[in-house]
Amino acid sequence: MVSPFDLAGQVALVVGAAAGGLGERAARTVAEAGATVVTADLDPTDVHHTADVTDEAAVDALVARVLADHGRLDVLVNAAGLMLRKPYDETTLEEFERVVRVNLTGTWLLDRAAGRVMAAAGSGRIVNLTTVYAERVGPVPESAYYASKAGVANVTRALAAELGPHGVSVNCLAPGVFYPTKMTAPLGADPERLDWFAKRTMLGRLGDPDTDLAGPLLLLASPAASYVTGQVVYVDGGWSAW
Ligand SMILES: NC(=O)c1ccc[n+]([C@@H]2O[C@H](COP(=O)([O-])OP(=O)(O)OC[C@H]3O[C@@H](n4cnc5c(N)ncnc54)[C@H](O)[C@@H]3O)[C@@H](O)[C@H]2O)c1
Repeated sequence: MVSPFDLAGQVALVVGAAAGGLGERAARTVAEAGATVVTADLDPTDVHHTADVTDEAAVDALVARVLADHGRLDVLVNAAGLMLRKPYDETTLEEFERVVRVNLTGTWLLDRAAGRVMAAAGSGRIVNLTTVYAERVGPVPESAYYASKAGVANVTRALAAELGPHGVSVNCLAPGVFYPTKMTAPLGADPERLDWFAKRTMLGRLGDPDTDLAGPLLLLASPAASYVTGQVVYVDGGWSAW
């Protein structure tokens, strides 16, 4: 019997996949499940294509390139993201809009481009990365990040509704604090806060980017989750369940 987690013969695009982040690990996970993986990021380190998710033409060209090179697109993982730790009254309009543009607008642009291709093929799976803060906020001031990531959760639901009749699922993975990635590396300078984050979980530890995300990601990226769509799947050690 073929495993429902098997991605052999399928093509996956992972964006935000430069070395050191959750996207890089996600690319490895879908590759290990058998998919042909195409990676992209603004940062050219260890990816096939350099692309800015805020650039409409670049996003459309990226998806067109995957189709031209591989003839199909079965899975999109959108792990590109930007965090800004700053109090609201020190955040400029430009900074706020940049975070929203990368996290929310970029997600919508990528989902739109991939969704069109998948809908035409009658199948596909889209996984957007949001955060444990999709429906709540945390102790660190980062209003632009919280706002943008709540938007990612709801744009996911909206596109799931529109793409569902075409055989395409759209879901969110919502990590808690996974350490260390490029985004969370600055926490290393603040061991007390790192410890607070770990204790705030039910499991009493931070997420390990090399081991803790792979299973839930593969579930949403594979036929195993064929009847799951429009969902935010929390991978947070129980943080959101208190
Ligand atoms: N690491 C965590 O603990 C954690 C927790 C919750 C949510 N997340 C989310 O997971 C995703 C990955 O986070 P990470 O920890 O791997 O961070 P990261 O900073 O290591 O990775 C994010 C990647 O996005 C890329 N990127 C930024 N702007 C881009 C743009 N305009 N176009 C294309 N690529 C761009 C960066 O170059 C980087 O490689 C993000 O969406 C983040 O919000 C991470």
